[in-house]
Amino acid sequence: MDNKDIHILAIESSCDETAAAVVKNGRFVMSNIISSQIDIHTLYGGVVPEIASRKHIERINQVIEQALSEAGMALNEMDAIAVTYGPGLVGALLVGVAEAKAISFATGIQLIGVHHIEGHICANYIEHTDLEPPFVSLVVSGGHTHLVRVADYGEYEILGRTRDDAAGEAFDKVARAIGLGYPGGPKIDKTAKNGNPEAIDFPRPKVIDEEYDFSFSGLKSAVLNYLNTERMAGREIMVEDVAASFQKAVTDVLVEHSMEALKSFGFKKFAIAGGVASNTALRAAMKEACEINNIELYYPSPVYCTDNAAMIGVAGYYEFIRGVRSDLTLNAVPNLKLGERA
Ligand code: KG4
Ligand code: ZN
Repeated sequence: MDNKDIHILAIESSCDETAAAVVKNGRFVMSNIISSQIDIHTLYGGVVPEIASRKHIERINQVIEQALSEAGMALNEMDAIAVTYGPGLVGALLVGVAEAKAISFATGIQLIGVHHIEGHICANYIEHTDLEPPFVSLVVSGGHTHLVRVADYGEYEILGRTRDDAAGEAFDKVARAIGLGYPGGPKIDKTAKNGNPEAIDFPRPKVIDEEYDFSFSGLKSAVLNYLNTERMAGREIMVEDVAASFQKAVTDVLVEHSMEALKSFGFKKFAIAGGVASNTALRAAMKEACEINNIELYYPSPVYCTDNAAMIGVAGYYEFIRGVRSDLTLNAVPNLKLGERA
């Protein structure tokens, strides 16, 4: 082992994945263990926060041990422990934060609290070793929809965000309404492949005074109204067409806002991130728009789009080399703002 190598043990528990990873020098993932709770939450049609916390506490030690053993490394070889401390479900976050603090206290290894959205953006650094700031990033997940200017490592400016539902949340709610179940995003993605995206003209919502902000609750309501009207009229609902048309409406808005932001800031690099960034229609539409506008598009493999600890290790590395450290007063911050430290 080269003495100059920096190894980060990363922990992520902000929602329903219990995850740990070992990341070397910020870009090389030595292990990435994800214990998903999807099967349990599927029974309830969505994430149940208390169950999520209980499952995290059951699994976290084992997930960390596995991350270290797959990396072939011992705990005392770690230079820092990076942990997601917000935003997310408070009880879920507390499990990861308490675990990281306990390890740091027992071993003396330095602690770094990491912002979950920063992690999602940094997921792009893993497979795109040429990608460096500045660039624009669109983070689209179950809890967040943010258009961000990445000025430098660790320096973010939010250009736009959702006023109501996150993009992934809209996918999940529409999927439930058309009987596809949880989690809705991947199911709509698959179902939409057999549907006609032009079949139903759902709205492309705009926020009047903030050109980069998003709003998806109106679109979700439009889908629910459409379903009610069709059911009342006794007409058969073409689930594939609803999925494809809804997905196209979301995709159009995301592409349009992103291209506007890239053009007005004169940026030529664009990275998408978060669970919805694995959507095949969104990736295809972004590719096409970026080709037309001569913009370089980056996106992570699906495993690094949805929640994972490797992305937290990457973000933790860049915070580490900037000198950022947390102490043992680190707490979970459910509404943590991007670019702020608490
Ligand atoms: O990033 P993530 O794992 O968790 C949050 O930080 O929220 O994102 C999960 C979200 C869910 O809403 C899920 O339905 C959505 O990402 N998602 C997708 C796809 N895969 C996951 N949405 C659309 N198409 C997909 N292929
Ligand atoms: Zn996430």
